[in-house]
Parts: sequence; structure tokens; C-alpha cells
Amino acid sequence: MKNVLIVGIGTGNPEHITIQAVNALNRADVLFVPTKGEAKAQLADIRRDIVSRYVTRPQSRVVEFAVPVRQTAERSYHQSVDQWHAAIAEAYQRLLLEELKDAETGAFLVWGDPMLYDSTIRIIERVRALETVPFDYSVIPGITSIQALAASHRIPLNLVGKPVEITTGRRLAESFPEKTGTAVVMLDGEQAFMKIEDPDARIYWGAYLGTAQEIVMSGRLADVKDEILKTRAEARARHGWIMDIYLLQKGRDFEE
Ligand SMILES: C[S@@+](CC[C@H](N)C(=O)[O-])C[C@H]1O[C@@H](n2cnc3c(N)ncnc32)[C@H](O)[C@@H]1O
Repeated sequence: MKNVLIVGIGTGNPEHITIQAVNALNRADVLFVPTKGEAKAQLADIRRDIVSRYVTRPQSRVVEFAVPVRQTAERSYHQSVDQWHAAIAEAYQRLLLEELKDAETGAFLVWGDPMLYDSTIRIIERVRALETVPFDYSVIPGITSIQALAASHRIPLNLVGKPVEITTGRRLAESFPEKTGTAVVMLDGEQAFMKIEDPDARIYWGAYLGTAQEIVMSGRLADVKDEILKTRAEARARHGWIMDIYLLQKGRDFEE
């Protein structure tokens, strides 16, 4: 039986990696590194850096593979994601069939933690359901971009005794500030914070967290949102890509 490790590697700082993850990478015969695209190129470099820093097992092999691109034309969001996952499952199936010998272990280096806005686990389950390559798998947790954001801003995530909603730019309007007093927003291609008008809202924003390019900004949303928008656009133009996340909050500790 082949074995797969889904290893969370943190979000840019090679020191995010846990000792459990280092030990898992050193159990692997093959380390799978996704490539392609400008963002992916830098993220692939970070993965290569992690492998060269921590993997001491001389016989392990690095296999780079191109991740299929999501097609969006003439289909709903759900269809688009479903078809994309099916294409990635095919790519994974090929890797497991062609690159892993029987009884060998392969590791997928997953950005952040595999449970947070990442589909590696569900895609690996899809590959299992195809029943073409028998394998078992385990998951090793990693530092998420939410943790990196809170640490860089030196803030706790929640107000005392209060809940937190984790959402996307597409769905922010449904939650903050009516439904929740604290929202973490990820995968925001539309800068949804610009549409929030609440005068009491605060924002804690971070881009390229954990990397040498890290930028963080915070303040009353109404005061800083234009500056964040400008900084984001300039950084994106400079680097050719951006990955950002933010926390929106209103209210204070011990307030009802
Ligand atoms: C596909 S999700 C993956 C999240 C990842 N599994 C995690 O644990 O953070 C990608 C989103 O995570 C956030 N993200 C990941 N890494 C980041 C970083 N280094 N700096 C800022 N945001 C990051 C961004 O919101 C980005 O759009």
C-alpha cells in the first residue's frame, strides 16, 4: 500500500514549519511541489527552501507538477470548482501511479494548514474514490495565514467570549457587521472591505505574511481603507501577484 502525507508548511516563513511536519517530510520518499504562474513560482521557491533546509534524507526525490488552472467561462461557481477539483484529482492520481512505487510515501506540501480554504484533503478523497491506486493518508497541521496575521498585528483573534466568522471577499457582505462583530476575510479578489460603511469598524490587514515582502496595516476602517487599497495595488503591480487577508472587527472586550 502506498502512503500519502498532507503536510501543512505555514504561510511563507520557513520557520513556521512544525517539528511534526519536518519529521513527516523526512519520512517521505517523494516530495510533491506544485509550480506554474507568478504567485506559484514564489510559493514553489518557498517550498524548495523548506525542502533544502529540513529534509536530510538523502534518497528522497522532489517531483514538481503543474496544477491545472480553474476554468470559469460559461459555468457556475460550483461547477467551475467541481471540474477544477476533478482535474487536480487526475493530476494527483497520475503522480501517485507514476511517481510512487508500492509501499512508498509521498508528501504534498500544503500552504498554511490543509483544513483552511484548501482542498487537498477533499481532492485526495476523490482520488481514493477512483479506486485506481490503493493508498492511505494522514494530515499534519501547519500555521495558518490567520495565525500569521494575528501574530504580526499582536492581537487576539476574538473579543472576550465572542465568536469569529471566517469568510471570503465574495460573501463578506452577508456577515459583517450585521451577523458577526469579528470577521476574517480570505481569498478577497474584490477588496470587499471598501463596501463596508460602519464608522466603528476596525481593520487589521496583512499581505505576503511571513515572507520578506510582508506588509501590515491597521486602523479605523474609514480612515485607512483608501490607503490599504492603494498599498495593495502598488504591491501587486510591483510583485506581479498578491496574497492578503484581513480581520474586521467592531466592539470592544467586555462590551455587551
Ligand atoms: C487558498 S487559501 C489557503 C489558506 C491556507 N491554507 C492557510 O492556512 O492560510 C489562500 C488565501 O489565504 C490567505 N493567505 C495565505 N497565505 C497568506 C500570506 N502569506 N499572507 C496573506 N494572506 C495569506 C489569503 O487570503 C489567500 O487568498
